[in-house]
Amino acid sequence: MTARGAVVAIDQGTSSSKGVAVAENGTVLARARADLGQRTPRPGWVEQDPEAILDGVRQVLAEVSAQAGVAIAAVGLSTQRESAMAWDTTTGAPLSAVIGWQDRRTAEAAVRLGEDAERLVRGRSGLPLDPMFSALKFAWILDDIDPDRTQARAGRVTLGTVDAWLAFRLAGVRRIERGNASRTQLADVRSGEWSDELLELFDVPRAALPDIVASDAPGATIPADGAATLPLAGVLGDSHAALFGHGCRAPGAVKATYGTGSSVMGLSDAAISGVAETIAWDIRGSIAHAFEGNILATGAAVVWLAELLGLRPEELADLARDADDGAVDLVPAFAGLAAPWWDPGAVGTISGLTLGTTRAQLARAALESVALQIEDVLSAVEAAGAARISKIHVDGGPSDNDWLMQRQAELSGRTVVRPADSARSVLGAAWLAGAARGVWDYDTAPWQESATEFGPQDDDGRRAARRRRWHDAVARARLRPGASAPS
Ligand code: G3P
Repeated sequence: MTARGAVVAIDQGTSSSKGVAVAENGTVLARARADLGQRTPRPGWVEQDPEAILDGVRQVLAEVSAQAGVAIAAVGLSTQRESAMAWDTTTGAPLSAVIGWQDRRTAEAAVRLGEDAERLVRGRSGLPLDPMFSALKFAWILDDIDPDRTQARAGRVTLGTVDAWLAFRLAGVRRIERGNASRTQLADVRSGEWSDELLELFDVPRAALPDIVASDAPGATIPADGAATLPLAGVLGDSHAALFGHGCRAPGAVKATYGTGSSVMGLSDAAISGVAETIAWDIRGSIAHAFEGNILATGAAVVWLAELLGLRPEELADLARDADDGAVDLVPAFAGLAAPWWDPGAVGTISGLTLGTTRAQLARAALESVALQIEDVLSAVEAAGAARISKIHVDGGPSDNDWLMQRQAELSGRTVVRPADSARSVLGAAWLAGAARGVWDYDTAPWQESATEFGPQDDDGRRAARRRRWHDAVARARLRPGASAPS
């Protein structure tokens, strides 16, 4: 089936909803954005208003559809992942706030579950037992609104992620996309179905959960003006959508998103130690798996140091560009270290200071910590037996910094590929939705787009020496009183 018309996509993220309309020939016809707030009612709690999320998406969808000025053949959706909420199955009214993926209110509950549960959870879901994922948030919500689970067991309460909430309210279907379902920590990463063992462990009744559907077959339509409807044709988690939007389709093709923290993700046929395993997407009848290494602080290190030095982050980046290497290392373990070290006890450090250390050298250390952490994930993934990674496809604000991208190439010994348009999640959702409706091909990019490549020039010896010094610094950050240095 080949539909005709433009493809519209929305990327519903943590801080905004962004939309695009893309013509059949791949030209971007329109863009729109609605910002979104968060509240932190208690330390460690992060909430968003479900109706505000819905309003923002509706607004952006209407704006880009109107600006496109042509018929809409397909709608794609990319969403923030893991954030969780409940609503009334009959009325669609929210029964909770959206508990954000950064929310730590269930940290103690995760610890209480213990080591056996951790093993079961990791084995079944592919993910570490962590408050970031939706399962503990769903349990918290039910403890709050339906402690004996009567409503949930009767299906009167629905638990869902942001994609499921939007599908329910925009299209009236009780469905969740398979990649997003895998991030709830309640799905079996291999079968892609809800896992009875995990549902029991987290005390979440199956009847409260939406049905899991394929990424390219959500089977839903969104009512538009008059009798018109818009076919919702593709849904992906935002990191997954970015991977798809970069054109990564096989193991060895990897993307790195630069933001406050970073997500390094690539397709992978097998589980890889040191990084989470997840369902990337379910497309053309087949489930693709991915690894994902989340780094807690990358851009955050730059922002933090800039503030400390009374500079704007861009000024810090300028300073770094002109600095000589003062043998200084900054390990931004502000909240421990995640992939590939998984050491919540690691502390932030600056090492190698002398009386001659300059602000510029500190700036360079902060910027290089971004690239070095990303390379640590890539090296760990390769060392664990994954396919050779020769290119890194990059996106996110800090990837605009040419100097940082060149350092990434040098410190990784890999080619960095930066597409002209860094909004990969929304473009990925558009690509998938268009492909699902036959507007475009799944594997051939619908758009003509230039990319900038940064190739490594340093020799292997220099690269290895720099990384050794960094790993010495990481070892110091992980050294706790009474503990011996990690190897
Ligand atoms: O895992 C959380 C992630 O999906 C949120 O991404 O870009 O909305 O902050 P973002």
